Amino acid sequence: MQTDTETTRPKILVTWFSRTGTTAQVARELAQALGATAEPLRSSDLYAGRLGWLRALWRAGRGHADKAPALTVDPARFDLVVVGSPVWNNHPALPVRAFLRSQKGRIAQMGLFVTQGGFGASKALEEMTRMVDSHVVASVALRQSTVQAGRHTGPMARFAAELRAHLPQAPSVELAFQTRRDREASTTEAPTMHE
Ligand SMILES: Cc1cc2nc3c(=O)[nH]c(=O)nc-3n(C[C@H](O)[C@H](O)[C@H](O)COP(=O)(O)O)c2cc1C
Repeated sequence: MQTDTETTRPKILVTWFSRTGTTAQVARELAQALGATAEPLRSSDLYAGRLGWLRALWRAGRGHADKAPALTVDPARFDLVVVGSPVWNNHPALPVRAFLRSQKGRIAQMGLFVTQGGFGASKALEEMTRMVDSHVVASVALRQSTVQAGRHTGPMARFAAELRAHLPQAPSVELAFQTRRDREASTTEAPTMHE
């Protein structure tokens, strides 16, 4: 049976592209904290491996137009869409750029985040913001090393709170942002499914 809470709950989508897993990890943790639908942007194996790395670097610098990755859900049906991307040569990753271009004018509210080695995040976020007609309610950049060290919990909790504050019917229950490591550490029962 559907409860009132379920029927009035805002619909949030978290989507991302990730070549080596950092952006994916953050995105999945964020989706869990927000109670959001989570779906990655897939782009075959175009950017996998050493050749893929070179292709990504070359194409990102030249603003190559990728084919937009398709999702199984329609982003326009969500109250808030959060998009995550690695920084590629001071730009968002090409599948993310293609996705944003394909959704221009279709999404009312967005949140944006990027992961980076150490530079170019502001340029990438500015570019992502320029590409959409949406109201970007919050954005955040994280270093890959911060995520790998599990030190991204604070910035991501603030990001999640900012996002929630812009939702008309934000859940009254305060949901904690947890890393996968936190969840595993607090689990006392049988092992849970790992992503
Ligand atoms: C082709 C390519 C270009 C990159 N360019 C940058 C860059 O300009 N600045 C930066 O700080 N990191 C850069 N990086 C590093 C990634 O942004 C960083 O490792 C990111 O966290 C990877 O995310 P992922 O694991 O989700 O793919 C680049 C990585 C690749 C593959």
